[in-house]
Amino acid sequence: MCGIIGYIGEKKAVNILMTGLKMMEYRGYDSSGISVLEDDKIVIKKKKGKISELEHEIAGTDFLSNIGIAHTRWATHGEPSDENAHPHFDNSGKISIVHNGIIENYQTLKTTLEKEGYKISTPTDTEVLAVLIGAKYDIVKNLDHAVRLALSEVEGTFGLLAMCSEEPDKFVAARRGSPLVLGIGDDEYIVASDNAAIIQATKRVIYLRDNEMVVVDKDGFITKTITNESTKIKVEEIEYNESEIQKGGYDYFMLKEIHEQPETVRNACRGRLMSNDGNIKLGGLHSVEDKLRKAKRIIITACGTSWHAALVGEYLIESMAKIPVEVEYASEFRYRDAIIEKDDIVFVISQSGETADTLAAAKEAKQKGALVLGIVNAVGSTIARETEAGIYIHAGPEIGVASTKAFTSQLTVLTQLAIYLGRMRGMNQLDGKKLATAIEQLPDQIQQILEREEDIKKIADSMKGVKNCLYLGRGYNYPVALEGALKLKEISYIHAEGYPAAEMKHGPIALIDEDMPVVFIATHDEIYDKVISNIEEVKARNGKVIAIASEGDEQIKNIVDKVIYIPETVPCLTPILAVIPLQLLSYYAALNLGLDVDKPRNLAKSVTVE
Ligand code: F6R
Repeated sequence: MCGIIGYIGEKKAVNILMTGLKMMEYRGYDSSGISVLEDDKIVIKKKKGKISELEHEIAGTDFLSNIGIAHTRWATHGEPSDENAHPHFDNSGKISIVHNGIIENYQTLKTTLEKEGYKISTPTDTEVLAVLIGAKYDIVKNLDHAVRLALSEVEGTFGLLAMCSEEPDKFVAARRGSPLVLGIGDDEYIVASDNAAIIQATKRVIYLRDNEMVVVDKDGFITKTITNESTKIKVEEIEYNESEIQKGGYDYFMLKEIHEQPETVRNACRGRLMSNDGNIKLGGLHSVEDKLRKAKRIIITACGTSWHAALVGEYLIESMAKIPVEVEYASEFRYRDAIIEKDDIVFVISQSGETADTLAAAKEAKQKGALVLGIVNAVGSTIARETEAGIYIHAGPEIGVASTKAFTSQLTVLTQLAIYLGRMRGMNQLDGKKLATAIEQLPDQIQQILEREEDIKKIADSMKGVKNCLYLGRGYNYPVALEGALKLKEISYIHAEGYPAAEMKHGPIALIDEDMPVVFIATHDEIYDKVISNIEEVKARNGKVIAIASEGDEQIKNIVDKVIYIPETVPCLTPILAVIPLQLLSYYAALNLGLDVDKPRNLAKSVTVE
């Protein structure tokens, strides 16, 4: 949700900034801008639209500056436009800033500044912050001091970069709530929202903590808190492989990430699955094993796709480990007066590790005394660092805005977690072995589904012109129905709803007619017959049914309009397979509409605002 980057070094800043912006474009892409120092003056170039628009804008200008800051935006205050794009100037035109986050008290600050005679010309919260920093600079004549003073008056979240023409060899970065990483290169420094923008120069990084700032110049950097106390630094090495963040011959990252799933599911099990003795080894939970053994209740909290994974987690853990589980939207959990008891354990699930609501929920649970554990993809992310212990899903960078491989890796990890907890609480070895063996087969089974891509594409073609769609499933497949519907609506903008199949008759059945495709996940399990009855109810009302069914189910062909077969597995692992055709269906439905599937409108990859 907005990507920011700052550079200082020997190279032309503009090249580093533009490369960095492109690597972070998935964080926001409604406008972008850069700010560099040319002939002792700050020059800002900014443009509505994707980064290619900005590229076009600056093509032909040879910026020589060795320092600069830049931004790619996901609008919060003020529509996407050239004026509202970042960077923003203060009133003197000597200071420019870029910002990721929300200044909650910007109206109050704006009123005060305007009374003092300062001018604010855009509806953005960021311009208010720029003008506030400028107002402080008028008094203290020192950029880091001015930033500190301004931030002491700010409520809300920020990843902030500021530069000043009066202090041409430095920039200041500060964070609260929004991520910032400092990259330490040879005679150069980059600060960015994301490692993806940093690896062009270095893999040595420092993750800034909340309420920390860093003042960077050509000779080095100083970190401190935003209240000017000194802080300790920890230099870490990014585990990042550049090829992982290229499209690798695919048209879109989403398609590449869908195809990576045999490998990413394998990676989520690597070193964990002990199929010979039916056990699971989760090194990241070793330090909290005793507490897990005593757990009376588990709460899982997350947003979006990660929340769908949490719902599957609930079914898995209750069934295998017999521990009561509650699943909460992080955005609700953080504000309602949730009761946390002694021996409750809270798991937070997040691909990015930066989702503001999930982070806030983790903090809320921690503050109420719960043991908070993470299931996270982005190594070193804020949630990974804020949680006591956890399990990385090891899916690698997920760039496509619609989450795909992270979901199947989350499910793979949750299944292993459920077996791990189950084995602590009486699950017998044989059951453990059976499940571990079934998990081992998943990568090959996913591959088999991917080989049916052409058939799935044809079904997507048959959906041309469709305006609404229902997704239905029961048991483990109910969250898959929710996820299938989310995938379709977020990238194709076709309205889609997911329901537990049996709920259909309590209302949604009124929507069924010949124009409404209904996608059923109808795989072999103990409620298969009931799902078939639900399909019959739809067919009786002229609905068009697309079924995801288990291989070998010949009977279903006679009832539904289209079938996509997936290999047979144990019911609790079905979601990991059943979601793959749904991902492909959405991908091709969006492609048929000529949409940019990696950058759906209004969305951003990591939602670092409330
Ligand atoms: C949907 C999607 C979002 C995210 C949600 C949580 O495809 O990607 O719904 O799942 O914003 O993000 P993380 O998992 O990064 O906390």
